[in-house]
Amino acid sequence: MQIKTILITGATSGIGLALAKHNVALGNNVIITGRNQEKLDAVVADLGVKAYLADSANLDQLASLGKSLEEEGVKLDGVVLNAGIFHPSPFMNATPAHFDEMIAVNTKGPFFTLQALQPCLANPSSVVFVSSIVVQKGFPGSAVYSASKAAFEAVIHVLNVELADLGVRVNSIRPGITATEIHSKAGMSTEQQTAVFESLKATPLGRELRAEDHLGSIQYLLDDASTPLRNVTIEVDGGYLV
Ligand SMILES: NC(=O)c1ccc[n+]([C@@H]2O[C@H](COP(=O)([O-])OP(=O)(O)OC[C@H]3O[C@@H](n4cnc5c(N)ncnc54)[C@H](OP(=O)(O)O)[C@@H]3O)[C@@H](O)[C@H]2O)c1
Repeated sequence: MQIKTILITGATSGIGLALAKHNVALGNNVIITGRNQEKLDAVVADLGVKAYLADSANLDQLASLGKSLEEEGVKLDGVVLNAGIFHPSPFMNATPAHFDEMIAVNTKGPFFTLQALQPCLANPSSVVFVSSIVVQKGFPGSAVYSASKAAFEAVIHVLNVELADLGVRVNSIRPGITATEIHSKAGMSTEQQTAVFESLKATPLGRELRAEDHLGSIQYLLDDASTPLRNVTIEVDGGYLV
């Protein structure tokens, strides 16, 4: 199998970290980004991948990421726009600062990450956006989060037209509720998380999702086997929306 160079944003925990491990195991060249240097150093020590500090909300860091890779002559066969945050807020309590933070990380972040990386994209190359089932289902407290993911999904339509001549294709996955650090970062207690995961026993899958459950779908979208796909979104939700 051809060795690929894959860049994964937000790969210091959860789905991104699992994907980095998976690609190292496949023998691919893996480049990761994150917003915390200590966490990046720990992943580098563990996996031997290349890592760059690139906070999705810091446009200067995103620009330097693109510049560094370009100077090093890196050609990316795949990019996974995975970095994201979920800070819930009821609609009536949502402040402009909350709105701006979520959009900055989850929408503006992948937008300008991809713009900065574009000169390094190989022809052909595959970009995968990690969206969410919140685009399709209303969860209380997720108004801005839902908007942040839906907005980038709308951008993907345009990217598939504008970047087609460069051999770039863009697709997405929509994870359902997955047991990662995102929930404690969102302020949920262990008891609250356990209650949510217990409720998922009623789904067709019969349990909560795990980061590893997303690897097959993301890898398929990165793989040449999915070359004809454009603007496809794979719901990886264990049947939650059925
Ligand atoms: N878990 C779910 O239930 C679920 C469901 C649907 C969609 N998703 C989406 O899946 C993606 C991965 O989330 P996860 O569940 O794996 O959560 P996670 O374990 O918190 O991982 C998120 C990753 O993104 C990084 N990150 C956060 N803010 C960043 C920023 N400003 N700049 C750069 N990196 C940043 C985190 O870094 P730190 O380690 O420094 O925090 C971490 O590496 C997200 O886009 C999320 O919206 C998750």
